[in-house]
Amino acid sequence: MSAPPVTCNGAWTLTRAAALMRGAEIGSVIVVDGPKVVGILTERDLLRAVGAGADPGTETVAMWMTAHPDVLGPEEAVDTAWASLTHHHYRHLPVVEGDRLVGVVSLRDLMGVARLRPPQETGGDVPPGLEGVVVAETALGDVRGEEGFFHYRQYSAVELAQRRSLEDVWYLMCNGELPGPAEADRFASEVAVLRVLPPGLRGLLPELVATSEPLDLLRSAVSLLGAELGWRPNLDLGPDELRAEATRLCALVPTVLAAAWNLRRGAEVVEPREDLGASANYLWMLTGTEPTPAQARAVEQYQILTVDHGFNASTFTARVIASTGADLAAAVCGAVGALSGPLHGGAPSRALAMLDDIGAPEHAEAWIRAAVGRGERIMGFGHRVYKTDDPRSIFLRDVARSLGGPLVDFADQVEQTVVEVLAELKPGRILYTNVEFYAGVVMHSCGIPPEMFTPTFATGRVIGWCAHFLEQVAHNRLIRPAARYIGPAPPEPVPRLR
Ligand SMILES: CC(C)(COP(=O)(O)OP(=O)(O)OC[C@H]1O[C@@H](n2cnc3c(N)ncnc32)[C@H](O)[C@@H]1OP(=O)(O)O)[C@@H](O)C(=O)NCCC(=O)NCCS
Repeated sequence: MSAPPVTCNGAWTLTRAAALMRGAEIGSVIVVDGPKVVGILTERDLLRAVGAGADPGTETVAMWMTAHPDVLGPEEAVDTAWASLTHHHYRHLPVVEGDRLVGVVSLRDLMGVARLRPPQETGGDVPPGLEGVVVAETALGDVRGEEGFFHYRQYSAVELAQRRSLEDVWYLMCNGELPGPAEADRFASEVAVLRVLPPGLRGLLPELVATSEPLDLLRSAVSLLGAELGWRPNLDLGPDELRAEATRLCALVPTVLAAAWNLRRGAEVVEPREDLGASANYLWMLTGTEPTPAQARAVEQYQILTVDHGFNASTFTARVIASTGADLAAAVCGAVGALSGPLHGGAPSRALAMLDDIGAPEHAEAWIRAAVGRGERIMGFGHRVYKTDDPRSIFLRDVARSLGGPLVDFADQVEQTVVEVLAELKPGRILYTNVEFYAGVVMHSCGIPPEMFTPTFATGRVIGWCAHFLEQVAHNRLIRPAARYIGPAPPEPVPRLR
């Protein structure tokens, strides 16, 4: 029971009693006459009074309390108390010894005994991996898994990839609308001049490449960029400053990655060009050769399709960090870390490696059966949200076909075999190709080395991370969920060491 009990007098006004209850954060107050219990005033009684039009400033507790309430003795068993409370739908019962009030027992006390926690604290049953749980509101886009459709703001992402440039989609995500012709040119020129690495980071890159793969290096580089450019916690900055930081970062990420790749293989850094679009410039910096328009467009379409995709793990990570008021660099570092996992962004090179390993269409079935038999996942297949074809995969398959080459036909054949074998070995799981399967094929056809597949994913997705960062900051509430404790029941006495 809770003791000492909170009490009032029958002559008190309802207003005074309600203030007492609010202050003590309790749902009822015991009404006493000297040491004797004469009634109990509950929240339900207060509601009754208000509903009946009572004036709480003048009417008394005695007029509205539940008189002569049931009581319990202090020696009563917990079971009896539980039965009494639940049978009568009481939430509180006075505990009386002889004539004297000694405490109150409440449902909350009994739940404490049972080591139960109220449902609002546990949040009910949350599916593993937060599948399907809505954790925020966003105007940036959505994924409709059953339909195989996803959109950026009000536009189909696939249609954007067909009709617009990466810079236009970037503008759409960060500014809320598609640019008109003049605005599109102005924005494309504005971001083109932001591609040059600042001198501090430029000087440190050779040291960083010695120990890091490009995507790992990106994490360090973004941290260093934040420090060199003086980025401050988002809590201290206005929307224009944050948007300027985000634009600079999105422009710099491809340069960092291309420079890292070249330095890592012992080549010279290829300086960015202002006269090329973002995607063509990326290929230029990566390979040192000007891409064909078809290659530049294929990579651009891939980048557009990977800008955003609901509350994927890296985007969620970026928003959690943004919600703490941290700076943009911190949020994007976290997002890059999440993207590096093979279950998220690390699959396209593995998908291509699988094609390499399979070698020929006639080996595909045995290879896949053996892999699934070993409990492995086939990279580039399956998706948490899509329960039908991934629209990005369908689009990229067409892009891959338009680029042509023997790898595309081979990938096509392997895809069919994987889908058939998985349907047999994993019935009911609905496993089709995801974005990663044909992404590898497209990037390979455009001269991007496998080591740069996931980093290339990051060149598009950084735009989505930044847009989510800006949106989170604009409507912020700290993201701080709860976990269900499943360890040994506390509190256990802490054993003495000696
Ligand atoms: C993307 C992915 C992580 C989504 O996973 P999820 O929604 O959490 O699905 P689960 O991990 O719950 O898997 C459900 C079942 O399908 C199976 N499965 C899912 N993807 C599979 C794959 N690619 N190959 C073989 N089996 C797969 C799982 O083994 C599991 O089978 P089980 O019920 O017999 O244990 C998962 O499909 C995967 O690992 N794919 C390969 C990696 C990949 O391509 N990642 C890029 C994502 S864009």
